[in-house]
Amino acid sequence: MASTLDRLSYAARQTARVAWYAGHYAAGRRLLKPLPKPEGPIGPTPSRAELTADMRALFAREWQDIADGLFPAPRPLATEPTELLRRSLLYFRDLPNVDARRHGELDEEIPPGTQADGLPDYYRQNFHFQSDGWLSEHSATLYDTQVEVLFTGAADVMRRRALRPIAEWLRGRNQRTLQALDIGCGTGRLLASLHQAWPGLRLTGLDLSPPYLAEARRLIGQTARVKLIEGAAEKLPFEDASVDLVVSSFLLHELPPDIRLEALAEMARVVKTDGLVVIVDSMQKGDQADWDGLLDLFPHYFHEPYYAEYVAGNLEGWASSAGLSPLATERAFLSKVVAFSR
Ligand SMILES: C[S@@+](CC[C@H](N)C(=O)[O-])C[C@H]1O[C@@H](n2cnc3c(N)ncnc32)[C@H](O)[C@@H]1O
Repeated sequence: MASTLDRLSYAARQTARVAWYAGHYAAGRRLLKPLPKPEGPIGPTPSRAELTADMRALFAREWQDIADGLFPAPRPLATEPTELLRRSLLYFRDLPNVDARRHGELDEEIPPGTQADGLPDYYRQNFHFQSDGWLSEHSATLYDTQVEVLFTGAADVMRRRALRPIAEWLRGRNQRTLQALDIGCGTGRLLASLHQAWPGLRLTGLDLSPPYLAEARRLIGQTARVKLIEGAAEKLPFEDASVDLVVSSFLLHELPPDIRLEALAEMARVVKTDGLVVIVDSMQKGDQADWDGLLDLFPHYFHEPYYAEYVAGNLEGWASSAGLSPLATERAFLSKVVAFSR
C-alpha cells in the first residue's frame, strides 16, 4: 500500500529529473543557433502549457497505477551523481557537433562498413544528428542524456507506461516461468524497469549495437535473469511461439518501412498464442491531431530518416496485417503505448 511519503518521494524524484533535463534543454537552446525553419507546411502545434500539462498527466497516471498496486514505484536507475555530471559534460561537449550536423556543416561521418561490418546499410548511418550513429561507446554513453533532454525528463516514464498492460496481463501468471524479449533494447532503460518491477521474469534484450548492449549491461548489472544478445529485429533468433512477452520501445520509427513490417511479423511469429506484445513509440498523425505539427517538425530538427513516413502511417494497422490484434492503446505524452495479443 503506497503511503503519502511514497507519493511525495515519487513526486520529488520525478520533479528533480524534469528540472535537470529541462535545464539542459534551456541551456542548449541558448548555446546553439536557432533551429532551421522547415520548408513544407507544418500542422498545428501545442503550446508549452499544453505540453507541460500533458507530461504532468502522464506522471499522475503512473502514480495512480503504483498506488493501485499494479507495479512498484520506480527506483532511480543506477547513475551516480558524479556519473550524471560526467554525462552532462559529455553532452554539452558534443552539442556543437550535433548543431553543426543540423545546419549542414558536418557530413555524415560514419565510414560505411569499417566500424560495423555485417550491419545493414539502413542502420549504418547517423540518426538524431548523433555522433557515430549507433556505432560507438561514445554514442552509447550520450544516448540517454540526449533522449531525456529531448523529452525534458519524461523519456523513462514514457517507456514505463508499457508496465501497465504488462501488469494486467501478468495477473494469474507466475512471472518466474515467463520469458520476455525487448527488441532494440538499446541502453536497457525499459529492460531495467521491467527487471525492477518483476525480478522473477526471464528477460532478454536484443539489439544490433554492441556498444549499446554494453551500456545496458552496465545499467542492469550482472544477473542471470537478464540476457543481452546481438541480433536484428527482422530476423529474431527465437523459435516460433517461444516467447511469452515481447516489448519494444522507440525502435520501429528508426526502421525503413519494409524492415519495420518484417520486425512486426517477427514479433507475431515468436510470441506465444496467449502471450503479449507491447510497443512504445512515437505518436502518429491523428492520434492527437492538434499536435500533428510537432510530428512535422521532429524529423527536421532531429534527423530521423524514416520518421516522417512512420508518423504518417498507423502502427495498429501494420501490426494487424502482421497477425497481431490491438488490445489497448494509451497516448503517453509524445508517444503511444499499444498492447497486442496474437
Ligand atoms: C531509438 S533507440 C531505442 C532504444 C531503447 N529501446 C530505448 O527505449 O531507448 C533504437 C535502438 O534500436 C536499435 N536497432 C535499430 N535497428 C535495429 C534492428 N534492425 N534490429 C535490432 N536493433 C535495432 C539501435 O541499435 C538502437 O539501440
